[in-house]
Amino acid sequence: MEDKRQIVVTGGAGYIGSHTVVELINGGFEPIIIDDFRNSKPWIIDRIQKITDTRVNVYEVDCLDEKSMQIVFNENPGILGVIHFAAYKAVGESVEKPVMYYHNNIESLCVLLNVMKQAEVENLVFSSSCTVYGEPENPVVTEDMPVQKAASPYGATKIACEQLIEFAVASGQKLKATLLRYFNPIGAHPSAEIGELPQGVPNNLVPYITQTANGLREQVTVFGDDYNTKDGTCIRDYIHVVDLAQAHVAAIQWVDKQSGKVCEVFNLGTGKGSTVLEIIHTFETVNQIKLNYRIGKRRPGDVEQIWANADKANKVLNWNCKYGIEDALKHSWEWEKNIEPE
Ligand code: UFG
Repeated sequence: MEDKRQIVVTGGAGYIGSHTVVELINGGFEPIIIDDFRNSKPWIIDRIQKITDTRVNVYEVDCLDEKSMQIVFNENPGILGVIHFAAYKAVGESVEKPVMYYHNNIESLCVLLNVMKQAEVENLVFSSSCTVYGEPENPVVTEDMPVQKAASPYGATKIACEQLIEFAVASGQKLKATLLRYFNPIGAHPSAEIGELPQGVPNNLVPYITQTANGLREQVTVFGDDYNTKDGTCIRDYIHVVDLAQAHVAAIQWVDKQSGKVCEVFNLGTGKGSTVLEIIHTFETVNQIKLNYRIGKRRPGDVEQIWANADKANKVLNWNCKYGIEDALKHSWEWEKNIEPE
C-alpha cells in the first residue's frame, strides 16, 4: 500500500497549528498548510523552516472557499488526514459578532467535510475546547461529563462542530474523527521562533503577562481573588503548546489505525490546576522579572476552577506532557522577546 504521509493542517500558521506542523515534520509526516493569514503571519512559515529545515507547502485559501479547498485535495492525492484548526477563537468578540462566528466556524467545517468526502480522506482531528464543559460540578473533568449549554457563541460553535462531526460519522460518510478538548494552551517553541501572536490587546492571561513584562501593557489585572480556591483566584489547567501539538500527531496516527465508525473525544491537559497568582509568581521566579499586577473585579463568564483528567489521552494515544508551567512560562517570555517587529 502507498505510504500516505501528507496531513492537511487548516490554520497551520496559527498558534497551535504552527507548533503542530513542526511536530508533524519531526514525526516524519508531510504537512500541507491551508491558511489565509487573517489571524497569523506569513513569516511564521519561514520560522517553521528555520526550526525544521523544511519548506512547507502552503495554500493561501479561506476554508469557506469550497472550490479552492477542492484544488488542494486534488493536487495532493496522498493525503492521509486533516487536522482542522482554522476558526475564530475569541470569546468576547464572539459575543459581539455571533453570526460571524457561526458562519465562519461551522460553515468552514461543512466545506471541509464535503471536500474530504469527495477526496475520500477519512481521518479528521478537530480542535475543540474545555469550554464545552461549562462550569462543571466537579472541577476535574473526564470526557464523559455532560456538555453544557454554551456560555458564548464561540463555545456554541465548538459544541455544534463536535455534534456535526458525530452526525457525519453516524451518517455513513467514511470518516474517523477525534475531538480534542484543549485546556489552556500556553508557552512557545523552545527555539523561540514560533509562539502566540495575539491581535491587539490580549484576552488571555499569559500573553497579557508577557506583554506587560515587555512594556507593551502597563499592568496585569487579576480578575477576582474572592473565588473559593486556595488563594482566591481562578484555577485552570495550563498545557505547553508543544505537548499539545504532539498530542495531535498521536491523535492522527491513532485514528488512522482505527476502523469502522470512530468519533472519540479526548481531553488534552496536564491533569494539574494552577491559580492565576501561581502563574504570575512562577513567571516572576523563572524569568527573574518583577511583574506589575493588581487585583481587580471578576470577569463575567469565568469558570471558577477546571482542570483535565487526561488519563484517556495518556493511555489510548500513548501521549504524556513533557513540560510543566515553569518551562512554558520561560518559553513564552523567550518568544515575546523574539517576536518579529511589524
Ligand atoms: N485572567 C486574568 N487576567 C487577565 C486574563 C485572564 O486574571 O488579564 C484570568 C482569567 O480570569 C482566568 C485565567 O486568567 O481565570 C485564564 O484566562 P484566559 O483568558 O487565559 O483563559 P480562559 O480560561 O478564560 O479561556 C480558555 C480558552 C478559551 C475557552 C475558555 C472557556 O482560552 O478558548 O477557556 O472558558 F473558551
